[in-house]
Amino acid sequence: MDIWHVRGGNRLFGSCRVQGSKNASLPVLAASVVLPVRSVLKNVPRLKDVDAALQILSHLGCRIDRGEEELIIDSTSFTGAEIPRELMAEMRSSVIFMGALLARCGEAKLSLPGGCQLGKRPIDLHLSALRQMGAEIEEEGSDLFCRAERLRGADIDLRFPSVGATENIMLAACAAEGRTTIHGAAREPEIVSLQAYLASIGADIHGAGTSTITICGAVGRENTVYTVPSDRIVASTLACACAAAGGRIILSGVKADHFSTVLHFLNDAGCDIINFKDIVEISSNGDLRSPGHIVTAPYPGFPTDAQPILMAALLRSHGTTQFTETIFENRYRQVSELRRLGADLTVSGTEAVLRGVETLHGETLTAPDLRGGAAMIVAGLHTRGETRIIDAGHIARGYDSFDDTLCALGAEVWIEHK
Ligand code: UD1
Repeated sequence: MDIWHVRGGNRLFGSCRVQGSKNASLPVLAASVVLPVRSVLKNVPRLKDVDAALQILSHLGCRIDRGEEELIIDSTSFTGAEIPRELMAEMRSSVIFMGALLARCGEAKLSLPGGCQLGKRPIDLHLSALRQMGAEIEEEGSDLFCRAERLRGADIDLRFPSVGATENIMLAACAAEGRTTIHGAAREPEIVSLQAYLASIGADIHGAGTSTITICGAVGRENTVYTVPSDRIVASTLACACAAAGGRIILSGVKADHFSTVLHFLNDAGCDIINFKDIVEISSNGDLRSPGHIVTAPYPGFPTDAQPILMAALLRSHGTTQFTETIFENRYRQVSELRRLGADLTVSGTEAVLRGVETLHGETLTAPDLRGGAAMIVAGLHTRGETRIIDAGHIARGYDSFDDTLCALGAEVWIEHK
């Protein structure tokens, strides 16, 4: 069990290159089995969730070679269509292997995915879309048996722009006859990244980043080289860390557009933000004010993943901040823990109200999930004394060497591996 220790009070100064995106890497790893191809992937972060995806790929017969700079997946040696339950349970993204396996071999035997407990996380949109494309899917308890002699293109209307469902359809559609059109598709940068990877292996795919994506199959290529974009939630976390602790940091290798809603609220809270090409500089005197009402929404709205993190940065801000969570029903699990530091937070259903307090005092907290754990680190950076975060293993699911990154910026943090 990992325990994070954060001693608050240090300002952050310096620059850091933001890691590759977890949520962009995982669908690309699943996509690497859609066709027999050797994929040279760059900027894939070293994370527990990535390791889980690699274990699945290895179980499916792919050859994996991880070097310092590159991750090579060779799916020409692919052998299986079945993913054991314990591998599926490691993370949420395992569900998109369903579309990938159906595309590759017309069959997928898997079970319901794991991931953060953020409330009900149904996969009805995934199942109904794949059925519209000709897949027969039987559900037996938590097991899923999927088969499709022939996948066919379809016009699919998503009632909600689900990221995972959009990804699953994009993958399955690479092997479908005819044209697949996704109406109401998710518009996240991770969808644009997946389209770029699929195009690089010969898919005829257009529209990612808009609400309508069309896919007309894929011809296949022997090799591809693909670079994963930077992680907008990690960039947001570092920006919030600097806002809360005070200081001036420079984030490089980022696209400000991808986390502009977070930067916008930090600016309203009193931070100075400068962005130039792939660099964003954040300066803060640590004395923040409420930026108003924060409502989470699908991209390009404010990301639900950044909600606990921005909340943690604002715990000592002047005034009252309201949060409305519209994506997940259980995304305030950090609140009861942050209160133990002395934060003034109340939650009612989808609404949370934060009244800034003058000081926070170090305590032992339990990380409820990945982003909740990250929120506790950010809170600890502007808390008096030491904050200990137990059950902090979640954090390694999404943050690569985050202790080193923060230490290099001047924070006093360390991880105790028990
Ligand atoms: C992805 C991200 C996650 C992020 C979320 C929303 C990955 C690995 N994870 O998760 O970090 O918080 O997008 O931006 O990329 N829903 C249904 N039926 C479905 C699918 C989803 O009702 O079949 C609902 C979910 O319960 C949830 C909402 O839609 O309320 C959003 O889910 P979705 O966009 O699918 O999120 P994920 O792909 O799981």
